[in-house]
Amino acid sequence: MSEKVQGVVEHNEEREYFFSVLNTFSSYREQSLLRIKSKERAISTLPGHHKDWLMEYIKDLSSFKECIETNSKLIPIILKEAQTIFGNIYCTDGTSHSETEVGTLSEGLDKVQSVFKQLMRDWSSMGAHERQQCYQPIIDEIELQFPNNQFDRKMINVLVPGAGLGRLAFEITMRGFSCEGNEFNMFMLVVSYFVLNLCKKVDEFEIFPWIHQYCNNLKAKHQMISVKFPDVRPMPTPGGPFSMTAGDFLDVYKNHDEWHCVATCFFIDCAPNVVQFVETIYNILKPGGVWINLGPLLYHYSELKNEKSIEPSFEVLCDIIKSIGFEMEKCKTGVKTKYCQNPESMLQYEYDSVFFVCRKNIRIVNGEGDY
Ligand SMILES: C[S@@+](CC[C@H](N)C(=O)[O-])C[C@H]1O[C@@H](n2cnc3c(N)ncnc32)[C@H](O)[C@@H]1O
Repeated sequence: MSEKVQGVVEHNEEREYFFSVLNTFSSYREQSLLRIKSKERAISTLPGHHKDWLMEYIKDLSSFKECIETNSKLIPIILKEAQTIFGNIYCTDGTSHSETEVGTLSEGLDKVQSVFKQLMRDWSSMGAHERQQCYQPIIDEIELQFPNNQFDRKMINVLVPGAGLGRLAFEITMRGFSCEGNEFNMFMLVVSYFVLNLCKKVDEFEIFPWIHQYCNNLKAKHQMISVKFPDVRPMPTPGGPFSMTAGDFLDVYKNHDEWHCVATCFFIDCAPNVVQFVETIYNILKPGGVWINLGPLLYHYSELKNEKSIEPSFEVLCDIIKSIGFEMEKCKTGVKTKYCQNPESMLQYEYDSVFFVCRKNIRIVNGEGDY
């Protein structure tokens, strides 16, 4: 399978950002161990009898360090090929990421941790339950819309914006469709490139996705749950044509009437203005094309200062979807879904997501729709 990544990569600013992401990955071990060190320092200031009572916790901290070491070993393996992601566009002067001036992103460590959790969701057998909840209804609907006996599936192009680590797009491709994932988060892009293009053996790698989750653990071992990935061999893919594009969905997809299907999972709430996402999806769909969506409305920009965020309710959003020109053919609320959840945590988030299927009104050409 060849993974095509296009868009985004033009100039110095992007080049610098790319290298700062690589540097952030590289600093994962040091930054993570620093957090443990600060806990050990806190313990060292406590009275002796507290230290005695905390002996088990002190041992747990040592075990956490070993898990961080395991996670850290994966990073150079991922980074080794990362510079080829954009066809060496960033590397024409031979500069390696360790030689650049770009510093570590302050928010970067959290992003690396999120990618580990996303690896659990998308590419481990432990994530199968979440994928069943979130991806399966979308996959089933696509198969229903484009049955094998009526369509040459490789001629049906499906776009998955906000593709994360690419599992949904991969599953769609495995069913014979021509599928493109789109993602703008460079941390996700670096790791999805690794999984989709370079992982060759099932369960080859082990990670501890929740090792940085210090709260709500009944037992220390729940923080140290490990998963192996990938649970399937993503390469080579015996499906339809498959690609990933890098860049902001709103910037990359400007061509009208191009896609037979757009599939969004936990995505539409990632915009400061959800209406712009819906309008873009409408524009890029072919007349008669379908938009299949599943997810909550956890508007990501809602709490961010200096962001012009709007947060219409689902009821209002439905009216907007129809005003834009969609026919809502199916709509289900209360779809139980989890997202990168540690099954043993005392804190369990579960979304009552919405699932819906919308059709772009068929434009009648000579008495017939476009397909
Ligand atoms: C909540 S995650 C969902 C990922 C995946 N669909 C899943 O269900 O696991 C949303 C993803 O959309 C990406 N995203 C958000 N806004 C985007 C945009 N404007 N263009 C491309 N990707 C975007 C984020 O980087 C993130 O990976």
